[in-house]
Amino acid sequence: MREPRFAAPVDGRLDAAMRSAFAETGFLVLEGYRSAAACDAVRARTAELIDAFDPADVSTVFAADSNAHTRDAYFLGSGDKIRFFLEPGACDAAGRLQVAKARALNKIGHALHDLDPVFDGFSRGADLAATAAGIGLVDPVLMQSMLIFKQPRIGAEVGLHQDATFLHSDPVSCTGFWFALEDADESNGCLIGLAGAHRQGLKERSHFVDGRIVKTRLDDTPFTGIEMALPAPKGTLVLLHGLAPHRSTANSSDRSRWAYALHAHDRATRWSDDNWLKRDAGMTLRGF
Ligand code: FE2
Repeated sequence: MREPRFAAPVDGRLDAAMRSAFAETGFLVLEGYRSAAACDAVRARTAELIDAFDPADVSTVFAADSNAHTRDAYFLGSGDKIRFFLEPGACDAAGRLQVAKARALNKIGHALHDLDPVFDGFSRGADLAATAAGIGLVDPVLMQSMLIFKQPRIGAEVGLHQDATFLHSDPVSCTGFWFALEDADESNGCLIGLAGAHRQGLKERSHFVDGRIVKTRLDDTPFTGIEMALPAPKGTLVLLHGLAPHRSTANSSDRSRWAYALHAHDRATRWSDDNWLKRDAGMTLRGF
């Protein structure tokens, strides 16, 4: 299976080879989609947000391999806010930070794209609209955004999952738009995909029921596919089909691996009301 890797089209329009690579693998790696300057502007804005953030406000430690956050109102209420989530182990038992706050963050989410002008600009444009149309999204809206830090040495692994588990619609339309804000490779925890497995259905659903998240196993058949590391130089856009299984390793290097991930939902499909992600009714959903 050919690696789904291309130089980014200037206008965002995908050619036939790009579209067929995405259809075949569930992934598309477009190098140079955003300029280094655009990535640096988002990084600088992120640094400002971190400066203004008071860790004492955070009542949770977000850990990708734990369900501790699922009962936490801070996480569940973040769908229409800009909130800060710490790495496990960043605090001692009394909740005091053990490392500088800029090194303690796991991610910021989930409405950066709607609440912050710099992120808004980075998240939208005619090029992204053309790219979304190229993979078949009819009426995409941006449901969530995350600045993912993958800190040097402590950035935790993220296990194999399908994004549609968490952002479900009928039929599945969730699509990830993952931007490398700095070089991501296998040493600092780049994405690793299971190419071709997006045609094997959804294995697990995450429902928000009675104030908490409940997971339902839908299919115990193991995935089959070709494991494919997806290294991404700074400025690369990686598209992820909502059913495409992917993971990332821990960051064992001394380099950080900042990424900015957007998730789109196609309004031509039916959003599942039991998704965890809730937004204030007054905050209009917008596309690219
Ligand atoms: Fe994911």
